[in-house]
Amino acid sequence: MSQTIRWGILGTGKIAKAFAAALADMPGAELAAVASRSADSAASFGAAFGIARCHASYQALADDPEVDVIYIGTPHPMHHENAMMCLHGGKAVLVEKSFTMNRAQAEEIVALARQKKLFAMEAMWSRFMPAIVEARRIVQSGEIGVPAHVSADFGFFADTGPEHRLLNPELGGGALLDLGIYPLSLAAYFLGPVKAVQAQAQMGPTGVDVQTVFSLQHEDGGISACSCSLRARTPTELTISGSLGFVRLHDRFHNTEEISVTLVNGASRTERTIRLPRTGNGYAHEALEVGRCIRAGLIESPVMPHAETLALMGVLDTIRGQIGLRYSADQRAA
Ligand SMILES: NC(=O)c1ccc[n+]([C@@H]2O[C@H](COP(=O)([O-])OP(=O)(O)OC[C@H]3O[C@@H](n4cnc5c(N)ncnc54)[C@H](OP(=O)(O)O)[C@@H]3O)[C@@H](O)[C@H]2O)c1
Repeated sequence: MSQTIRWGILGTGKIAKAFAAALADMPGAELAAVASRSADSAASFGAAFGIARCHASYQALADDPEVDVIYIGTPHPMHHENAMMCLHGGKAVLVEKSFTMNRAQAEEIVALARQKKLFAMEAMWSRFMPAIVEARRIVQSGEIGVPAHVSADFGFFADTGPEHRLLNPELGGGALLDLGIYPLSLAAYFLGPVKAVQAQAQMGPTGVDVQTVFSLQHEDGGISACSCSLRARTPTELTISGSLGFVRLHDRFHNTEEISVTLVNGASRTERTIRLPRTGNGYAHEALEVGRCIRAGLIESPVMPHAETLALMGVLDTIRGQIGLRYSADQRAA
């Protein structure tokens, strides 16, 4: 494997553009190829980002011998099929969140990656954000005591029609899979594996959840209160609390550049704020981890390991069972 990681981009939508922009001036990475369902779209994406190899089908990208790893930026219901195709083509994959529609699909991707000894990771970029890495270091240092409580909300007003992927069930619409994965994944990042979950949701006219709240019991005894909304611009903050104080990830917590640490001792209270800028738009950090792992011969990242992706997809399945949210992918899995 060459030292330079040759990236392919699968899909030419909003997030694919943001990810390509992040790779454009990243050391050790080459934007080698792009694929779209349409030749025009692939060509204009290629022109915008200086990509030489522009494919008019996803299969052509999966088969491209000049590519090491493929970033999958399609709507969630396509992730499973796209990732399986890329792995069968001998490519490592970085798959956008939500990783798949359900745990059964995620298990198939992980099994194929392991069988083929190819790297695969859920693109949970928040875990690689410098400010969030520092927050975790502080929590693990014991400065706020034993961490026991997380609260997190992620909400914005989705000013879109019912056909948009955020609300369209055929495109995996709903607050939970699009936004709820962030509070869930970071609650587990700070407090460890989830033992039990309890959820409530408000369903919208298209049959998907427009707001969901869920509480988590963690195996180590902590508890989390999480919410996501497509109806309200919530503060979008995450707080980890322990016996001595709390660490706050400021708005919007999932890609924050600012955290604060508050220590409370009786009537006295001290607070410090830490600014840790992300590089560019923030997507370079997860891409650097992919490069690091591939060069080291790893097939998973220790920061976002397969087992955790599978476990969290299982938690999402449980929440969906509780709120009555089913997708066509669930029928295929049943
Ligand atoms: N990490 C983050 O910060 C972040 C932010 C936003 C979104 N995301 C995730 O990224 C994924 C894509 O979101 P997005 O906002 O970029 O979506 P988008 O703008 O709609 O783009 C999705 C792309 O997927 C391809 N696609 C394949 N099958 C499709 C279908 N049946 N309908 C529509 N598009 C299809 C299309 O590319 P071609 O036409 O070129 O084939 C399309 O441009 C989602 O899973 C989302 O959760 C992550």
